[in-house]
Amino acid sequence: MYGDLARPPLDGSALSRALGADGFRVEVLASAGSTNALVAERARAGETHGLVVVAEEQTAGRGRLDRSWLSPPRAGLTFSVLLRPSGALGWVPLFGGLAVAQALRDHAEVDASLKWPNDVLIGGKKVAGLLAEAVDGAVVLGIGLNVTTRADELPHDSATSLALEGAAATDRQTLLKAILRALNGALGDRDVAAYRALCGTLGRTVRLELPGNEAVEGVAEAVDDQGRLVINGVAFAAGDVVHLR
Ligand code: BTN
Repeated sequence: MYGDLARPPLDGSALSRALGADGFRVEVLASAGSTNALVAERARAGETHGLVVVAEEQTAGRGRLDRSWLSPPRAGLTFSVLLRPSGALGWVPLFGGLAVAQALRDHAEVDASLKWPNDVLIGGKKVAGLLAEAVDGAVVLGIGLNVTTRADELPHDSATSLALEGAAATDRQTLLKAILRALNGALGDRDVAAYRALCGTLGRTVRLELPGNEAVEGVAEAVDDQGRLVINGVAFAAGDVVHLR
């Protein structure tokens, strides 16, 4: 039994059955430190493309740039996918963000957009974050999505959840399937124009906070062919964007 009727548990067997045809093997854990850490271990041990580990609760969820990812049990989706994509890996994290944004637009009917490289925003607030890590030629793509999280449970004012944004769907089972299928689509299509079209960073005045406490400000002019953000004619491969205007 579960205590919170608004937050039912995921059905791992049903997910595995439904997603097998899409090439995914889904494992649902009641609790884990970090699903990215678990999947990275499995990647090092030679696991093949398509493993998905979902945790109903993470006790040491990791974010980009050494941050943490916090989410109450079953209030969101926290999962990692093992990818062994053919071709260049540079765009994989960006296509991951595109897949989440597309799935939320199509299935939750929210106006999701992207903040470079792969934060998913609704109305300027972050609803999902992705952490892509390269492991022995594979990519571990970790996704955290706030689903029924209440305002008082969010880590900061600039975060939101699907429920808070009035989404048409907050069923995690449905959302997980939609995201994984959209991921297959995005990795297959490699449609950089679709990414650019949903990237709300382009054309905005931004501050890019760089690793090592430096920052640059200017107009985000382009996402180049390697997925880097171009500001004032200079291409950056990593950093944290703040939309200023
Ligand atoms: C970010 O926005 O900084 C990225 C957040 C990524 C969080 C997800 S939750 C599932 C997976 N496991 C982790 O430890 N992190 C990612």
